[in-house]
Amino acid sequence: MRIRKKRHLEERLSAVKDYLIVPERDIPNVLEAVKDKRYFNFKEIFGNDNPVEMEIGCGKGGFIIQKAIENPNVNFLAVELLQNIVVMACESAKEKNLTNVKFVNSGAEYLPRYIPDGSMRNIYLNFSPPFPQDGYEGRRLTSDRFVTAYKNYLSDGGAVYQKTDDVPFFEYSFGKFLQFGFDVKVVSDQIEKGEIKNIETEYEKKFHAIGIRTNALIATKKPN
Ligand SMILES: C[S@@+](CC[C@H](N)C(=O)[O-])C[C@H]1O[C@@H](n2cnc3c(N)ncnc32)[C@H](O)[C@@H]1O
Repeated sequence: MRIRKKRHLEERLSAVKDYLIVPERDIPNVLEAVKDKRYFNFKEIFGNDNPVEMEIGCGKGGFIIQKAIENPNVNFLAVELLQNIVVMACESAKEKNLTNVKFVNSGAEYLPRYIPDGSMRNIYLNFSPPFPQDGYEGRRLTSDRFVTAYKNYLSDGGAVYQKTDDVPFFEYSFGKFLQFGFDVKVVSDQIEKGEIKNIETEYEKKFHAIGIRTNALIATKKPN
C-alpha cells in the first residue's frame, strides 16, 4: 500500500516537473550546504528578466497562484518543504497554464545556497508554524538566521509581508525585523477594513471562518 502510494506520488511529481525545482541534496548538513553556492538563474528559470518575488511555506499554493494570475509581469518562486503538499500546488499551477510561477521543494534553511543577494523584490510568509515550544526558536521563519537571510535576498526597498493568526509569534517577528534594521509597519487593521488588498491563503480562510483575525506586517529593507 505504502509503495503504491509512493509510486503514485512519484508519477504526479514527474507530471509537473516543469513547475518544480528540486534542489540537489548532495550536502545534507545545512551549514556546509549554504557555503557551497548554487545560485538559481532566474532568467533561465522563467525565460525573462521580470522581477522575482518569493513565498516561503506556500502549502497548496492558493496565495501564490492568485498573485501570479493577477501579476503576469512578475515571476513568483514558492518554497515548500513537503513533497506531498508541493505537488498539489504544482498541479494547480499547471492546470491554469501559468508561466510565471515555479515551486521549490526545500526547507527554507537551505535557501542561502540558491537565492542570490538582492534578487527578490518581495518575500511572503503566510501562517508559518510559530514553534512556541522551548528549544524550537531557531525553526521559526523569523528567527535570526532567516531574517538575516531575507535582508540579503531583498533588493533595496523590498519587503517581507508576514501574516499569522498567532499573536505571540507576530510580536516576536515584529521585534526581530526591528532588531535587524527593517522599517516595520503593522497593517492588520487596514487588511481587516479592506483598505489593503488581501489574498486569503488556505489557512487564513479556515481561520476567518471561525472568527480568528489575521495579524499582518510589512517589514521593508532600508537602503544601505
Ligand atoms: C501552516 S502551513 C500554511 C500554508 C499556507 N502558507 C497558508 O497560509 O495556507 C505552513 C507551511 O509551511 C511549510 N513550512 C514550514 N516550515 C518550513 C520550512 N522551514 N521551509 C519550507 N516550508 C516550510 C509547511 O510544510 C506548511 O506547508
